[in-house]
Amino acid sequence: MPIPPATPLAAPAGVTRPDPHPARTAAAADRPVVLVTGGARRIGRAICEALAGAGWRVAVHHRRSGDAAQALVAQLQAAGVEAAAFAADLADEAQCRALLPAVLARFGRADAVVNNASLFEHDEVASFSYAAMERHWRANTAPAIVLAQALHNHLHSARVAGSGRGGVVVNLLDQKLWNPNPDHLSYTLSKAALQAATTMLAMALAPVLRVVAVAPGVTLHSGDMDDAEFAAAHRMTPLGRSSTPQDVAQAVAYLLAAPAVTGTTLLVDGGQHLQAQPRDVLFLTRAANDTPQTD
Ligand SMILES: NC(=O)c1ccc[n+]([C@@H]2O[C@H](COP(=O)([O-])OP(=O)(O)OC[C@H]3O[C@@H](n4cnc5c(N)ncnc54)[C@H](OP(=O)(O)O)[C@@H]3O)[C@@H](O)[C@H]2O)c1
Repeated sequence: MPIPPATPLAAPAGVTRPDPHPARTAAAADRPVVLVTGGARRIGRAICEALAGAGWRVAVHHRRSGDAAQALVAQLQAAGVEAAAFAADLADEAQCRALLPAVLARFGRADAVVNNASLFEHDEVASFSYAAMERHWRANTAPAIVLAQALHNHLHSARVAGSGRGGVVVNLLDQKLWNPNPDHLSYTLSKAALQAATTMLAMALAPVLRVVAVAPGVTLHSGDMDDAEFAAAHRMTPLGRSSTPQDVAQAVAYLLAAPAVTGTTLLVDGGQHLQAQPRDVLFLTRAANDTPQTD
């Protein structure tokens, strides 16, 4: 879904403000390229669609969802957007390190990476294992750092060659880092590390890269959540609705076009992070449904 054009703000006297959406006005061959990991389905797909609408050429990464990735690429191409699909298991370091070079070989440049791919398995203190921890860190934390490193190396070389281009990395976090509960322990720890990495990468990779994050609230069904539980989870937020995939994608599109923003996170969650929750919303909605009626 294309995002509406933003209204440009007037620049203060003496400051030349760059076009906030250069991607939309560039000639097709000069348009910037974004890699969206886990881009074939769900939130990743919405991000690909929004960025295509904002003028980006899109590299759609997938692991198992090859058919969905190809269908999305065909949809974007039919709309006149240059797009291609790339397969990689990001938990495999060699495959992860080969991903950005493959994008560069196909498009000739890369300007942004959206680290959206994620493993989300349930565990808690009682069931915690080294293996669960390692699976989540290999899927959710290490690939984001390797891809940021690769984008930095590419853009640093391009700057040495005189391009003057900068890049952006957007990491997908989770509102539960601001509103912790003990469910999904290994997933949460992997995202907490990614939050810390966002700060550290923003410091280490400036001025070539900006590194930012978006933290959604409950956005799509997870696990075996049914429709009633999903609707109840949305109603529990202060705004009475949490994020849609399009809300998350809009935040990503804003951050890609925000030249003064780095090292920070946008929470897009209907205010869920403001509300202490002792357990994951899935279990809270189930507990509410299980409460016997006393009237
Ligand atoms: N959904 C929510 O309500 C919610 C809430 C808070 C935060 N978030 C965050 O928002 C982002 C998107 O959420 P989502 O629910 O759309 O994600 P998701 O469906 O759980 O996962 C997105 C994709 O990640 C890919 N993936 C997983 N492990 C991988 C690996 N080892 N290598 C390569 N790809 C791998 C899978 O690609 P394939 O299908 O191709 O295998 C999957 O389709 C995630 O970072 C998530 O933590 C989501």
